[in-house]
Amino acid sequence: MAKHQETARLMEQEAVAHQTYRMLLHSPTIAGEARPGQFMMLQVRDGNDPLLRRPFSFHRILSEAGAVEILYRVVGRGTWLMSRMEPGAALGLIGPLGNGFDLPASEDGPVFLVAGGIGIAPIEELAARLLEAADGSPGGSIHLFYGARTAAELLGANRVSRPGLRIHWSTDDGSRGLRGNVIQCIERVVAEDDIRPARVYGCGPLAMQVRLALWALRRGVEAQLSLESLMACGFGACLGCALPAPNPDDPTSDRYLHVCKDGPIFPAGSIQWEKIRQQQIAPPIFRCI
Ligand SMILES: Cc1cc2nc3c(=O)[nH]c(=O)nc-3n(C[C@H](O)[C@H](O)[C@H](O)COP(=O)(O)OP(=O)(O)OC[C@H]3O[C@@H](n4cnc5c(N)ncnc54)[C@H](O)[C@@H]3O)c2cc1C
Ligand code: FES
Repeated sequence: MAKHQETARLMEQEAVAHQTYRMLLHSPTIAGEARPGQFMMLQVRDGNDPLLRRPFSFHRILSEAGAVEILYRVVGRGTWLMSRMEPGAALGLIGPLGNGFDLPASEDGPVFLVAGGIGIAPIEELAARLLEAADGSPGGSIHLFYGARTAAELLGANRVSRPGLRIHWSTDDGSRGLRGNVIQCIERVVAEDDIRPARVYGCGPLAMQVRLALWALRRGVEAQLSLESLMACGFGACLGCALPAPNPDDPTSDRYLHVCKDGPIFPAGSIQWEKIRQQQIAPPIFRCI
C-alpha cells in the first residue's frame, strides 16, 4: 500500500489521563487509507528539534471526516512539544505505514483484546472494527483486558466502553479493577468463566507482550501483537528497528524482522520472545534524537 506525505491540521487536543493526550488531525489522504494497527510518522515541528519524526498508531480512523486521532503519552521532548500545540497547528505526516491487524471475516470464538497502559492506542480502533463486524452475527464475545500501573494512567470508562465490549480492568496498585497485571487478569477470567479465546490481540510494554505471547503460544491460541521500537525512518531505510526472529532455513541462527516494515503487528510465533526476555533486548536499537 502506498504511503503518503501530508500536512495535517490539528483540530482538537485534549488531556485524557496522566500525561496522556488525544490529538485529532485533519489528514484526509491518510485517513482514507489507514487500517487498524498501522501507524504514521509525525514531524513534531520544522527544523531539527527534534530532528526525527516520531511514530504513532492510529487510535481512531475517521475516514468520512478525513481525520485521524492519536493517543499519546508524554515521555520526552517530542511528545512534550506535541502536548503544547494548539488547534490550527500544522504537522507533517507520513503514512499509513506498517501492516496493520489481520481481521477475520467472522469470529469463531471469544476474542481477547489486551492493552497495557498507552498500548490502548491501536486497540481502540481495532475494538470498534471487531464490534462493527460482530454486529448482528452470532460471532464470539469481545473482551478488553486493560491495565496500567495506577488508575490515573487509564482512560475513563466513558472513553472505552462500547455496547458489546466486556472490559476487565487491572492496576498494579489496585486503584481500579483487579490488583495485578493484565496477564493475571486474563488468567482469572479464563479460570472463572471457563473460556478460551479463539484469538488474542495485544499492545503494551515489552514485558507484557512477551508474557502474552508465551501465554498464547503455550495454549495454541492465535495472537497478534503490536510491537514498538525506536524508529528513525519508519519504512525500512535505516534498518534500526530489528527484532530477532526464528530462521526457518537454519534453526541454529536468527534472522531479523523490522518493526516498521514487517510489523508493527507480529504473530506470536514469529519473534524470539525468550531471547528478547533473556537478553533483555530493549527495542531501542537506533537512538532517535
Ligand atoms: C509503531 C509505533 C507506534 C507507536 N504508537 C504510539 C502511540 O500510539 N502512542 C504513544 O504514546 N506512543 C507511541 N509510540 C511510541 C512513541 O513513538 C514514542 O513515545 C515517541 O517517539 C517518543 O518521542 P519523544 O521525543 O517524546 O521521546 P524521546 O526523547 O525520543 O524518548 C524519551 C524516552 O522514551 C523512550 N522511547 C521513545 N520511543 C520509544 C519506543 N518506541 N519504545 C520504547 N521506548 C521509547 C526513549 O528511549 C527515552 O527513554 C509508538 C512507537 C512505535 C514504534
Ligand atoms: S525504522 Fe528505519 S528500518 Fe525500521
